[in-house]
Amino acid sequence: MMQQEMIRRVLILLVLCVAGIGCGSPESGPRQPIAFSHKIHAGQNKIACQYCHGGVRRTAAAGIPSQRLCMGCHKLVAANKPEIIRLRGTFEKKEPIPWLRVNDLPDFVYFNHYPHIARGLACKKCHGDVETMTELHPAVNLADMAWCVDCHRQNQASVDCYTCHR
Ligand code: HEC
Ligand code: HEC
Ligand code: HEC
Ligand code: HEC
Ligand code: HEC
Repeated sequence: MMQQEMIRRVLILLVLCVAGIGCGSPESGPRQPIAFSHKIHAGQNKIACQYCHGGVRRTAAAGIPSQRLCMGCHKLVAANKPEIIRLRGTFEKKEPIPWLRVNDLPDFVYFNHYPHIARGLACKKCHGDVETMTELHPAVNLADMAWCVDCHRQNQASVDCYTCHR
């Protein structure tokens, strides 16, 4: 009897996994040191991705915005909310916020945002519907060579090993 009950539970879990509801919670990312929400900023307040991640236009890295940029708004906006008081504290003490990485390719892979943005690829293609995410989480597994190479083939971009391993 005990065993049958176990098997039943495992089967239910498997079904939930396949349906994408069970198995941990894919809808949440790492708990960040400040409760920053893309849904509030990029969604509800329609702040452009590149206002905060301007690096994509020039460099390999998109970059994470500095507290100075945050304080440009938050000196006034929601200034008395507890999370913003903490934000101001780190800014005044010049302590960087230790944001946790969400996407991180292994070091032997070379990636550069700039050529992708220059070809008009939307952030959404690789990062999903970020503007709906309260806690940012990966939409696709970026550390997947087949995914990179397939899109390169479809777009006549280089598939030489040296392009991504240099
Ligand atoms: C262009 C303006 C702007 C910038 C830049 C900005 N924010 Fe905001 N932020 C807002 C607005 C607007 C809200 C919503 C405020 C409200 O609903 O009262 C908000 C809300 C928040 C909240 C939720 C506050 C609460 O508890 O209700 C946090 C936390 C926050 N921002 C952190 C940050 C951080 C960290 C940065 C820098 C990485 C940043 N913000 C940059 C405009 C901005
Ligand atoms: C107000 C500033 C702000 C805006 C606007 C904003 N972001 Fe962010 N973004 C951040 C901050 C701060 C982090 C680090 C904290 C986190 O991961 O939630 C971050 C993290 C990220 C990351 C993950 C970084 C990693 O570790 O891999 C991605 C991807 C990202 N943003 C994409 C976007 C996209 C796409 C948009 C537009 C739809 C956008 N962001 C709009 C501030 C912003
Ligand atoms: C062709 C796919 C692709 C597109 C398009 C893309 N990204 Fe990324 N993004 C990546 C990959 C891959 C990484 C991980 C890079 C690494 O770990 O070295 C990344 C990392 C990031 C990070 C983490 C911090 C950093 O500098 O690496 C942020 C923030 C980010 N992207 C924002 C954006 C924004 C905003 C856009 C649109 C303007 C965008 N990305 C478009 C693939 C893409
Ligand atoms: C959605 C399609 C798409 C995806 C996914 C994608 N790329 Fe690209 N990639 C392109 C396009 C298009 C170009 C631009 C080619 C050009 O302008 O010649 C490009 C260019 C590049 C370049 C610059 C090539 C050069 O000749 O300078 C590098 C490096 C690169 N991609 C790495 C990656 C890596 C690593 C991944 C996976 C993590 C990836 N790309 C995922 C479409 C994609
Ligand atoms: C468009 C980008 C791109 C190109 C072109 C590319 N790779 Fe990769 N490669 C990746 C990414 C991204 C990973 C990381 C995947 C992972 O961590 O599983 C990777 C991983 C690898 C690995 C490690 C695999 C593992 O399981 O740890 C090897 C070996 C490799 N690539 C060899 C090659 C060779 C050989 C070529 C040329 C025929 C090539 N790659 C072309 C993006 C690329």
